[in-house]
Amino acid sequence: MASLLFSPLTIKNITLKNRITISPMCQYSAIEGFANDWHLVHLGSRASGGAGLIIQEATAISPEARISPSDLGIWKDEHIQKLKTITEYIVSQNSIPGIQLAHAGRKASVSIPWEGNKKLGFDQGGWQTVAASAIPYHDNEPFLPEALDKKGIQKVISDFKTATKRAVEAGYQVMEIHGAHGYLLHQFLSPLTNIRTDEYGGSFENRIRFTLEIIAAVQSEWPSDLPLFVRISATDWAEGGWNPEESVKLSEILKEKGVDLIDVSSGGLVSHQKIELKPGYQVSFAEKVKKEASILTGAVGLITEAKQAEAILETGQADLVLFARASLRNPNLPLDFARELNDDIQWPKQYERAKI
Ligand SMILES: Cc1cc2nc3c(=O)[nH]c(=O)nc-3n(C[C@H](O)[C@H](O)[C@H](O)COP(=O)(O)O)c2cc1C
Repeated sequence: MASLLFSPLTIKNITLKNRITISPMCQYSAIEGFANDWHLVHLGSRASGGAGLIIQEATAISPEARISPSDLGIWKDEHIQKLKTITEYIVSQNSIPGIQLAHAGRKASVSIPWEGNKKLGFDQGGWQTVAASAIPYHDNEPFLPEALDKKGIQKVISDFKTATKRAVEAGYQVMEIHGAHGYLLHQFLSPLTNIRTDEYGGSFENRIRFTLEIIAAVQSEWPSDLPLFVRISATDWAEGGWNPEESVKLSEILKEKGVDLIDVSSGGLVSHQKIELKPGYQVSFAEKVKKEASILTGAVGLITEAKQAEAILETGQADLVLFARASLRNPNLPLDFARELNDDIQWPKQYERAKI
Protein backbone atom coordinates (compact mmCIF):
# COMPACT_ATOMS: atom_id res chain seq x y z
CA MET A 1 0.00 0.00 0.00
CA ALA A 2 1.24 3.47 -0.85
CA SER A 3 2.39 5.54 2.10
CA LEU A 4 0.66 8.70 3.23
CA LEU A 5 3.98 10.53 2.97
CA PHE A 6 3.96 9.96 -0.77
CA SER A 7 0.27 10.65 -1.25
CA PRO A 8 -0.64 13.88 -3.04
CA LEU A 9 -2.25 16.88 -1.38
CA THR A 10 -4.35 19.36 -3.29
CA ILE A 11 -4.69 22.86 -1.86
CA LYS A 12 -6.74 25.20 -4.02
CA ASN A 13 -5.36 24.85 -7.59
CA ILE A 14 -2.07 23.25 -6.60
CA THR A 15 -1.40 19.56 -6.15
CA LEU A 16 1.70 18.63 -4.19
CA LYS A 17 2.92 15.22 -5.37
CA ASN A 18 3.82 14.21 -1.81
CA ARG A 19 3.74 15.55 1.76
CA ILE A 20 7.47 16.25 2.01
CA THR A 21 8.27 19.96 2.18
CA ILE A 22 11.69 21.56 2.36
CA SER A 23 11.47 24.00 5.24
CA PRO A 24 12.65 27.55 4.54
CA MET A 25 16.35 27.92 5.35
CA CYS A 26 18.39 31.11 5.11
CA GLN A 27 21.55 30.59 3.10
CA TYR A 28 23.13 33.97 3.91
CA SER A 29 24.61 33.92 0.43
CA ALA A 30 22.99 36.81 -1.41
CA ILE A 31 24.53 40.12 -2.36
CA GLU A 32 22.18 43.11 -2.14
CA GLY A 33 19.32 40.62 -1.91
CA PHE A 34 20.07 39.02 -5.28
CA ALA A 35 19.80 35.25 -5.70
CA ASN A 36 22.70 33.54 -7.43
CA ASP A 37 23.80 30.07 -8.51
CA TRP A 38 24.14 28.91 -4.89
CA HIS A 39 20.39 29.41 -4.39
CA LEU A 40 19.62 27.76 -7.72
CA VAL A 41 21.71 24.67 -6.93
CA HIS A 42 20.60 24.50 -3.27
CA LEU A 43 16.89 24.72 -4.02
CA GLY A 44 17.16 22.95 -7.35
CA SER A 45 18.91 19.90 -5.97
CA ARG A 46 16.20 19.48 -3.35
CA ALA A 47 13.58 19.67 -6.11
CA SER A 48 15.44 16.98 -8.08
CA GLY A 49 15.68 15.11 -4.76
CA GLY A 50 11.94 14.51 -4.80
CA ALA A 51 10.32 16.96 -2.36
CA GLY A 52 6.78 17.94 -3.26
CA LEU A 53 7.20 21.53 -2.10
CA ILE A 54 10.27 23.69 -1.66
CA ILE A 55 9.80 26.81 0.46
CA GLN A 56 12.56 29.30 -0.25
CA GLU A 57 14.29 30.92 2.70
CA ALA A 58 13.03 34.02 4.52
CA THR A 59 13.11 36.55 1.71
CA ALA A 60 13.25 40.17 2.77
CA ILE A 61 10.52 42.57 1.71
CA SER A 62 12.84 45.56 2.18
CA PRO A 63 16.57 46.03 2.81
CA GLU A 64 16.01 46.70 6.54
CA ALA A 65 13.83 43.56 6.79
CA ARG A 66 16.89 41.34 6.30
CA ILE A 67 18.35 39.41 9.20
CA SER A 68 21.85 39.84 7.78
CA PRO A 69 23.27 41.80 4.85
CA SER A 70 23.45 38.48 2.94
CA ASP A 71 19.75 37.55 3.05
CA LEU A 72 17.73 37.03 -0.09
CA GLY A 73 15.46 39.93 -0.99
CA ILE A 74 12.53 40.77 -3.18
CA TRP A 75 12.28 44.51 -2.67
CA LYS A 76 13.04 45.50 -6.24
CA ASP A 77 12.00 44.35 -9.69
CA GLU A 78 15.59 43.47 -10.60
CA HIS A 79 15.46 40.65 -8.04
CA ILE A 80 12.82 38.82 -10.05
CA GLN A 81 14.92 37.52 -12.94
CA LYS A 82 17.14 35.06 -11.06
CA LEU A 83 14.27 34.01 -8.80
CA LYS A 84 12.33 33.12 -11.94
CA THR A 85 15.16 30.87 -13.10
CA ILE A 86 14.92 29.09 -9.75
CA THR A 87 11.13 28.63 -9.81
CA GLU A 88 11.27 27.39 -13.41
CA TYR A 89 13.88 24.81 -12.49
CA ILE A 90 11.82 23.62 -9.49
CA VAL A 91 8.74 23.28 -11.70
CA SER A 92 10.79 21.37 -14.31
CA GLN A 93 11.47 18.81 -11.56
CA ASN A 94 7.75 18.32 -10.95
CA SER A 95 7.99 20.12 -7.62
CA ILE A 96 6.24 23.26 -6.41
CA PRO A 97 8.18 26.47 -5.68
CA GLY A 98 7.15 28.34 -2.55
CA ILE A 99 8.54 31.51 -1.01
CA GLN A 100 8.63 32.75 2.56
CA LEU A 101 8.27 36.53 2.84
CA ALA A 102 9.77 38.00 5.97
CA HIS A 103 10.69 41.03 8.03
CA ALA A 104 13.22 40.44 10.81
CA GLY A 105 12.22 43.46 12.90
CA ARG A 106 14.41 43.82 15.98
CA LYS A 107 16.39 40.68 15.06
CA ALA A 108 17.70 42.36 11.89
CA SER A 109 21.15 43.79 11.31
CA VAL A 110 23.28 40.86 12.47
CA SER A 111 26.35 39.29 10.89
CA ILE A 112 25.99 35.95 9.10
CA PRO A 113 26.31 32.80 11.26
CA TRP A 114 29.85 31.96 10.19
CA GLU A 115 30.88 35.52 11.08
CA GLY A 116 29.43 35.26 14.58
CA ASN A 117 25.78 36.22 14.32
CA LYS A 118 26.58 39.51 16.09
CA LYS A 119 24.56 42.70 16.04
CA LEU A 120 26.09 44.96 13.40
CA GLY A 121 26.61 48.54 14.51
CA PHE A 122 26.06 51.42 12.09
CA ASP A 123 29.80 51.54 11.37
CA GLN A 124 29.85 47.81 10.50
CA GLY A 125 27.28 47.84 7.72
CA GLY A 126 24.36 47.56 10.14
CA TRP A 127 21.14 49.55 10.09
CA GLN A 128 18.45 50.91 12.38
CA THR A 129 16.07 48.11 13.26
CA VAL A 130 12.35 48.45 13.90
CA ALA A 131 10.01 46.53 16.17
CA ALA A 132 6.59 46.57 17.80
CA SER A 133 8.19 48.22 20.84
CA ALA A 134 11.67 49.58 21.53
CA ILE A 135 12.88 46.49 23.41
CA PRO A 136 16.16 44.86 22.30
CA TYR A 137 16.58 41.08 21.93
CA HIS A 138 19.77 41.10 24.02
CA ASP A 139 20.43 43.60 26.81
CA ASN A 140 23.85 44.61 25.54
CA GLU A 141 22.98 45.58 21.97
CA PRO A 142 24.67 48.70 20.55
CA PHE A 143 21.33 50.39 19.77
CA LEU A 144 17.63 49.99 20.50
CA PRO A 145 15.08 49.01 17.87
CA GLU A 146 12.68 51.79 16.98
CA ALA A 147 9.00 51.19 17.71
CA LEU A 148 7.16 51.47 14.41
CA ASP A 149 4.82 54.45 14.19
CA LYS A 150 1.63 54.36 12.09
CA LYS A 151 3.47 55.50 8.99
CA GLY A 152 6.14 52.85 9.51
CA ILE A 153 3.47 50.17 9.94
CA GLN A 154 1.80 51.23 6.70
CA LYS A 155 5.17 51.10 4.91
CA VAL A 156 5.80 47.51 6.06
CA ILE A 157 2.31 46.46 4.98
CA SER A 158 2.81 48.08 1.59
CA ASP A 159 6.26 46.41 1.23
CA PHE A 160 4.63 43.00 1.85
CA LYS A 161 2.11 43.82 -0.88
CA THR A 162 4.65 44.79 -3.54
CA ALA A 163 6.90 41.87 -2.57
CA THR A 164 3.93 39.57 -3.15
CA LYS A 165 3.34 41.08 -6.58
CA ARG A 166 6.96 40.34 -7.47
CA ALA A 167 6.71 36.81 -6.06
CA VAL A 168 3.79 36.14 -8.41
CA GLU A 169 5.83 37.45 -11.34
CA ALA A 170 8.76 35.29 -10.30
CA GLY A 171 6.57 32.18 -10.54
CA TYR A 172 6.10 31.05 -6.94
CA GLN A 173 3.02 28.89 -6.46
CA VAL A 174 2.89 28.76 -2.66
CA MET A 175 3.22 31.83 -0.42
CA GLU A 176 4.29 31.59 3.19
CA ILE A 177 4.25 34.61 5.49
CA HIS A 178 6.83 34.39 8.27
CA GLY A 179 5.01 35.06 11.52
CA ALA A 180 7.35 32.94 13.68
CA HIS A 181 10.77 32.84 15.34
CA GLY A 182 10.63 36.24 16.98
CA TYR A 183 10.66 38.23 13.77
CA LEU A 184 8.54 41.34 13.21
CA LEU A 185 5.05 39.79 13.01
CA HIS A 186 5.76 37.63 16.04
CA GLN A 187 7.09 40.71 17.89
CA PHE A 188 3.62 42.24 17.49
CA LEU A 189 1.83 39.01 18.48
CA SER A 190 3.58 38.45 21.79
CA PRO A 191 2.98 40.55 24.91
CA LEU A 192 6.65 40.01 25.82
CA THR A 193 7.78 42.18 22.90
CA ASN A 194 4.68 44.28 22.31
CA ILE A 195 3.92 46.83 25.02
CA ARG A 196 2.19 49.26 22.70
CA THR A 197 -0.77 51.22 23.98
CA ASP A 198 -2.34 51.96 20.56
CA GLU A 199 -4.65 49.70 18.53
CA TYR A 200 -1.67 47.39 17.75
CA GLY A 201 -0.95 46.47 21.37
CA GLY A 202 -2.61 45.21 24.52
CA SER A 203 -5.53 42.87 23.81
CA PHE A 204 -5.24 39.74 21.67
CA GLU A 205 -7.32 41.48 18.97
CA ASN A 206 -4.90 44.40 18.93
CA ARG A 207 -1.74 42.27 18.90
CA ILE A 208 -2.92 40.23 15.89
CA ARG A 209 -4.02 43.34 13.94
CA PHE A 210 -0.64 43.89 12.22
CA THR A 211 -0.51 40.26 11.05
CA LEU A 212 -4.08 40.40 9.74
CA GLU A 213 -3.39 43.65 7.87
CA ILE A 214 -0.32 42.10 6.27
CA ILE A 215 -2.29 39.01 5.26
CA ALA A 216 -4.97 41.21 3.68
CA ALA A 217 -2.32 43.18 1.74
CA VAL A 218 -0.69 39.94 0.55
CA GLN A 219 -4.08 38.57 -0.52
CA SER A 220 -4.72 41.69 -2.61
CA GLU A 221 -1.84 40.55 -4.88
CA TRP A 222 -1.63 36.79 -4.32
CA PRO A 223 -3.92 34.80 -6.67
CA SER A 224 -6.89 33.45 -4.73
CA ASP A 225 -6.45 30.03 -6.37
CA LEU A 226 -2.91 29.56 -5.00
CA PRO A 227 -2.10 28.33 -1.47
CA LEU A 228 -1.31 30.80 1.28
CA PHE A 229 0.52 29.56 4.39
CA VAL A 230 1.46 31.33 7.61
CA ARG A 231 4.33 30.12 9.78
CA ILE A 232 3.79 30.75 13.48
CA SER A 233 5.61 30.04 16.70
CA ALA A 234 2.95 28.22 18.70
CA THR A 235 4.61 29.16 21.97
CA ASP A 236 7.37 31.51 23.16
CA TRP A 237 8.58 28.90 25.66
CA ALA A 238 8.60 31.74 28.19
CA GLU A 239 6.28 32.82 30.95
CA GLY A 240 3.73 35.45 29.98
CA GLY A 241 4.41 34.94 26.28
CA TRP A 242 2.37 33.97 23.22
CA ASN A 243 0.87 30.54 23.83
CA PRO A 244 -0.76 27.55 22.08
CA GLU A 245 -4.28 28.74 22.93
CA GLU A 246 -3.67 32.09 21.25
CA SER A 247 -2.15 30.20 18.31
CA VAL A 248 -5.39 28.25 17.91
CA LYS A 249 -7.46 31.45 18.11
CA LEU A 250 -5.28 33.20 15.54
CA SER A 251 -5.36 30.14 13.25
CA GLU A 252 -9.18 30.08 13.37
CA ILE A 253 -9.25 33.72 12.30
CA LEU A 254 -6.64 33.18 9.59
CA LYS A 255 -8.67 30.26 8.26
CA GLU A 256 -11.75 32.43 8.10
CA LYS A 257 -9.72 35.04 6.17
CA GLY A 258 -8.68 32.46 3.56
CA VAL A 259 -5.30 31.20 4.80
CA ASP A 260 -4.89 27.55 3.82
CA LEU A 261 -2.26 26.10 6.13
CA ILE A 262 -0.47 26.93 9.37
CA ASP A 263 3.16 25.90 9.43
CA VAL A 264 3.62 25.32 13.14
CA SER A 265 7.02 26.08 14.62
CA SER A 266 7.87 27.57 18.03
CA GLY A 267 10.17 29.89 19.94
CA GLY A 268 12.77 32.38 18.79
CA LEU A 269 11.24 35.43 20.44
CA VAL A 270 13.23 35.91 23.63
CA SER A 271 16.73 34.91 24.66
CA HIS A 272 15.50 33.43 27.96
CA GLN A 273 13.26 30.83 26.28
CA LYS A 274 13.38 27.30 27.69
CA ILE A 275 12.86 24.76 24.92
CA GLU A 276 12.74 21.04 25.55
CA LEU A 277 14.36 19.66 22.41
CA LYS A 278 13.49 16.11 21.42
CA PRO A 279 12.42 14.37 18.20
CA GLY A 280 9.22 15.90 16.88
CA TYR A 281 9.14 18.41 19.75
CA GLN A 282 6.75 20.76 17.95
CA VAL A 283 4.42 18.18 16.43
CA SER A 284 1.89 18.34 19.27
CA PHE A 285 1.38 22.05 18.50
CA ALA A 286 0.65 21.26 14.84
CA GLU A 287 -1.83 18.66 16.05
CA LYS A 288 -3.53 21.08 18.43
CA VAL A 289 -3.90 23.76 15.76
CA LYS A 290 -5.15 21.22 13.20
CA LYS A 291 -7.74 19.71 15.53
CA GLU A 292 -8.93 22.83 17.34
CA ALA A 293 -8.85 25.35 14.49
CA SER A 294 -9.82 22.81 11.79
CA ILE A 295 -7.13 24.00 9.40
CA LEU A 296 -4.39 22.18 7.51
CA THR A 297 -1.07 22.18 9.34
CA GLY A 298 2.58 21.52 8.65
CA ALA A 299 4.75 19.83 11.30
CA VAL A 300 8.41 20.77 11.63
CA GLY A 301 11.29 20.33 14.03
CA LEU A 302 13.59 17.35 14.56
CA ILE A 303 11.69 15.17 12.13
CA THR A 304 14.36 13.10 10.44
CA GLU A 305 12.97 9.64 9.67
CA ALA A 306 10.52 8.35 7.06
CA LYS A 307 8.57 6.28 9.59
CA GLN A 308 8.42 9.19 12.02
CA ALA A 309 6.96 11.41 9.28
CA GLU A 310 4.54 8.68 8.20
CA ALA A 311 3.32 8.29 11.80
CA ILE A 312 2.64 12.05 12.06
CA LEU A 313 0.37 11.81 9.01
CA GLU A 314 -1.20 8.51 10.07
CA THR A 315 -2.22 9.86 13.46
CA GLY A 316 -3.66 12.99 11.84
CA GLN A 317 -1.30 15.41 13.57
CA ALA A 318 -0.44 17.33 10.40
CA ASP A 319 -0.97 17.39 6.64
CA LEU A 320 2.55 18.24 5.54
CA VAL A 321 5.90 17.38 7.08
CA LEU A 322 8.71 19.90 6.75
CA PHE A 323 12.38 18.94 6.83
CA ALA A 324 15.19 21.43 7.37
CA ARG A 325 18.52 20.12 8.67
CA ALA A 326 17.92 16.51 7.57
CA SER A 327 17.46 17.81 4.05
CA LEU A 328 20.70 19.80 4.26
CA ARG A 329 22.48 16.57 5.10
CA ASN A 330 20.75 14.77 2.25
CA PRO A 331 19.09 16.62 -0.63
CA ASN A 332 17.76 13.28 -1.88
CA LEU A 333 15.99 12.52 1.40
CA PRO A 334 12.60 12.02 -0.35
CA LEU A 335 14.12 9.55 -2.83
CA ASP A 336 15.65 7.58 0.05
CA PHE A 337 12.39 7.71 2.02
CA ALA A 338 10.47 6.33 -0.98
CA ARG A 339 12.85 3.36 -1.15
CA GLU A 340 12.45 2.76 2.56
CA LEU A 341 8.66 2.94 2.45
CA ASN A 342 8.48 0.94 -0.82
CA ASP A 343 6.82 3.73 -2.72
CA ASP A 344 7.30 3.56 -6.43
CA ILE A 345 7.76 7.24 -7.22
CA GLN A 346 9.13 8.89 -10.30
CA TRP A 347 12.86 9.53 -10.03
CA PRO A 348 14.76 11.98 -12.20
CA LYS A 349 15.58 9.96 -15.33
CA GLN A 350 19.25 10.77 -14.84
CA TYR A 351 19.22 9.05 -11.42
CA GLU A 352 17.02 6.04 -12.22
CA ARG A 353 19.87 3.56 -12.08
CA ALA A 354 20.22 4.34 -8.38
CA LYS A 355 16.58 3.46 -7.68
CA ILE A 356 17.05 -0.29 -7.05
C1 LIG B 1 20.38 26.94 8.18
C2 LIG B 1 18.98 27.20 8.65
C3 LIG B 1 18.30 28.32 8.21
C4 LIG B 1 16.98 28.55 8.60
N1 LIG B 1 16.28 29.60 8.07
C5 LIG B 1 14.94 29.71 8.28
C6 LIG B 1 14.16 30.64 7.55
O1 LIG B 1 14.63 31.34 6.66
N2 LIG B 1 12.84 30.72 7.85
C7 LIG B 1 12.25 29.91 8.79
O2 LIG B 1 11.06 30.03 9.03
N3 LIG B 1 12.98 29.00 9.46
C8 LIG B 1 14.29 28.86 9.21
N4 LIG B 1 15.00 27.86 9.82
C9 LIG B 1 14.28 26.91 10.69
C10 LIG B 1 13.88 25.67 9.89
O3 LIG B 1 13.01 26.00 8.82
C11 LIG B 1 13.20 24.63 10.79
O4 LIG B 1 12.01 25.16 11.27
C12 LIG B 1 14.11 24.21 11.96
O5 LIG B 1 15.44 24.00 11.53
C13 LIG B 1 13.61 22.91 12.62
O6 LIG B 1 13.54 21.87 11.67
P1 LIG B 1 14.68 20.71 11.55
O7 LIG B 1 14.77 20.07 12.90
O8 LIG B 1 14.14 19.79 10.48
O9 LIG B 1 15.96 21.35 11.16
C14 LIG B 1 16.34 27.65 9.47
C15 LIG B 1 17.04 26.54 9.95
C16 LIG B 1 18.34 26.29 9.53
C17 LIG B 1 19.04 25.04 10.01
